[in-house]
Amino acid sequence: MRLTDRLKELDDKQVISMHVPGHKNMTIGYLKEIDMKYDMTEIPGLDNLHNPEGILLELNHKLSGKYEGYSAQAVVNGSTTGILAGISAVSEHVNCFVIRGDAHKSVYHALDLVNADYSVAAADELDDVKEGTAVIITHPSYTGEGLKSLGSLIKKLKSKNITVIVDEAHGAHMDIAEGFLESSMNYGADFVVQSYHKMLPALTGASVVYCREQKNMMTVQKYIDYFETSSPSYLVMASIELAEEFYNDFKPEVFFANRTLIVQVLREKGFEVIECDDPAKLVICRQGLRGHALDSLFRENGVYSEMTVDDGVLWCLPLFHAGDSFPLQELIKSVRSLDLSSMETTDIEKYDISELLNKKCIRTVVPYPPGVPVVIEGEKFHKEVLLVLDNYLNNNVKIEGIKENINYYMNEDES
Ligand SMILES: Cc1ncc(COP(=O)(O)O)c(C=O)c1O
Repeated sequence: MRLTDRLKELDDKQVISMHVPGHKNMTIGYLKEIDMKYDMTEIPGLDNLHNPEGILLELNHKLSGKYEGYSAQAVVNGSTTGILAGISAVSEHVNCFVIRGDAHKSVYHALDLVNADYSVAAADELDDVKEGTAVIITHPSYTGEGLKSLGSLIKKLKSKNITVIVDEAHGAHMDIAEGFLESSMNYGADFVVQSYHKMLPALTGASVVYCREQKNMMTVQKYIDYFETSSPSYLVMASIELAEEFYNDFKPEVFFANRTLIVQVLREKGFEVIECDDPAKLVICRQGLRGHALDSLFRENGVYSEMTVDDGVLWCLPLFHAGDSFPLQELIKSVRSLDLSSMETTDIEKYDISELLNKKCIRTVVPYPPGVPVVIEGEKFHKEVLLVLDNYLNNNVKIEGIKENINYYMNEDES
């Protein structure tokens, strides 16, 4: 089948998006202002994202206004590019990194590229981090948990001259209004990256990199130039501008009213709804149903979730606003009409992973989503790791790298 036909098919079915990107099939935000004809290139008047001097410098200045004391750079290749560039820039003066908790695969890719030493630490282990290192924090998590004591942690790290890098890929909407999480930029993080496309209404790939010191930004820009396409999409850049305008205009009343209604309708239907720190994320569970079964039940009824989590699904709520065209009534109708008695489980692609016990990982294994590596190349597949992977497989989560490891050891056994 042609990709274009598949996309058209989904559009014709008017599927309801409870996933990223934040424009939710163009029903949230201002993206209708963008015409496909605006897909231009660096002709006179349109500046150059890799050396912004005109209209794109102006865009960067507007983006810098989000947090006082920070300079900003628009990026079209997602936070992945920002993370690769940021870690590369920091590695010019730091060669030891500490990763706080779960981190996206791009963090590991960057550390691999710069060949840096790193360790993974829990929040309470950060007290022992040595001066002159850099700490990489993810805030908020994919499932919308904010890092507790963010302010005091950053203050403590900064007092020890530790560089603080924060992956805020899931938090471009932080501080948008009261009741939302706070960005680490309120507390002086050195380098921060936000995916505008995930939770704000911007096109996929739209991201912004922030630096507290202008000289650091110059080094980061050098590496963005290495990693980012030299033909940045003007559609994506324009969408960053429109998402920023949306952020500045946002009034939370409609959002919170619709969110309350959605939670109420789900609970009336018998679902357990877990409210995350980020009010725009909900985890929905139902006793006796695995996440993947719930995911397919919603999908069969036209509602697409962001991902399966343990025994539930994660929804990214639209940032509802006055005048949006999100199909809220259709969503409610769909939830109310779910037939929970005729639950069918979909076939699960199962692998026998027991053979991997104590074997060395030959290709990093990453359940996607969330994109957080479970075993890094070179590490061993311990029993605990196999249990985690088994749980992902039972939930029908796609796992990057697993087939390569299985095939590698299968062929080895045969030879
Ligand atoms: C925590 C985290 N950081 C970074 C990224 C990469 O962001 P992007 O898709 O904008 O490249 C992701 C993507 O899912 C993520 O979950």
